[in-house]
Amino acid sequence: MKKIAVLPGDGIGPEVMKEAIKVLDAAQEKYSFELEYEYADVGGIAIDNHKTALPQATLELCENSDAVLFGSVGGPKWESLPPDQQPERAALLPLRKHFDLFCNLRPAKVFPSLTKSCPLRPDIVGDGFDILCVRELTSGIYFGTPKGREGQGPDEFAFDTMRYKRSEIERIARMAFDAARLRNKKVTSVDKANVLTTMVLWREVVMEVARDYPDVELNHIYVDNATMQLVRYPQQFDVMLCGNMFGDIVSDEAAMLTGSMGLLASASLNADKFGLYEPAGGSAPDIAGKGIANPIAQILSGAMMLRYSLGQDDAADAIDGAVGATLAKGIVTADLTSDRESAVTTVEMGDAIVAELLAR
Ligand code: NAI
Ligand code: MG
Repeated sequence: MKKIAVLPGDGIGPEVMKEAIKVLDAAQEKYSFELEYEYADVGGIAIDNHKTALPQATLELCENSDAVLFGSVGGPKWESLPPDQQPERAALLPLRKHFDLFCNLRPAKVFPSLTKSCPLRPDIVGDGFDILCVRELTSGIYFGTPKGREGQGPDEFAFDTMRYKRSEIERIARMAFDAARLRNKKVTSVDKANVLTTMVLWREVVMEVARDYPDVELNHIYVDNATMQLVRYPQQFDVMLCGNMFGDIVSDEAAMLTGSMGLLASASLNADKFGLYEPAGGSAPDIAGKGIANPIAQILSGAMMLRYSLGQDDAADAIDGAVGATLAKGIVTADLTSDRESAVTTVEMGDAIVAELLAR
């Protein structure tokens, strides 16, 4: 029995979470494993009920769980709070820090039936693609010291420090190779080893780690070329391994190639493979309460949780497959079609995916 902390949050969070739980329930039935869910407040609703975006009880629940399934937080109601008390900042950042979630996984997948939503030309997108960005999240140039500003006038200067420890590179590289083993066994390490000393070490360490994964193919690519190749021939990539800054850029570019916010899942993991799983989008206040949000990003976040934290990759594959098959039947929520009449509701999408999963 694995324990899951379920934190639906605000806006569409609770609506899409309900569908994700429904799909996880069906997966348990079909693949004979057991999850125990415990719910807690986070974000704006926690501010309303407990005066803080991350109550102690919520944090303790996460500590006592095997994984966290997170919805989305925030909304207009809390926008007038000081920046450090805003739901996103005051809930997500402390969670990332507290659990040392240094590994950010962001899949960018174009389903064959949705290639039209991809901004690339049809001859380039073909039948779609399936990339996993593995981004280091807690070190690199965003956190390296010293950083600062000195001097005055035309001589004033500013500086940041890109710094990576061998151990930091090694642990994120292992995550990427482990993830590749659960996918198509190919890692492309994104660096700039031709100009940055940090990236020379990065490449060295990645090559050392690769020796422990002879079954996984390793390539290296400079970051500038990586951004070009993503729009030229995205099918060449399986897992893209990146440091913090390059991963920020590359994962956003890859996400936009999928063309839809409502499909993007994400995960943040630590060395024990404890993880926080959440949709890449926010609480979508513009459509909250209308029952039209796309639950797929939350459902696929649940599938990632099964794959990366709970070791249930057959069930995860089945959920991914059920989502693809549902979309292939032309069943889509309002965000995926211009024909509003034909769009299904949040609940109908969840039901369709459950039916597809149980029929497999
Ligand atoms: P957003 O992602 O909530 O919305 C952007 C657009 O995408 C909206 O038009 C929305 O309707 C649409 N959208 C997002 N998810 C969707 C889904 N599942 N189905 C259909 N349409 C979807 O970003 P926005 O508007 O910038 O932020 C709204 C609130 O969410 C803010 O309070 C922000 O701070 C918070 N936020 C929270 C995040 C988190 O919890 N991790 C991440 C990003 C924003
Ligand atoms: Mg970004």
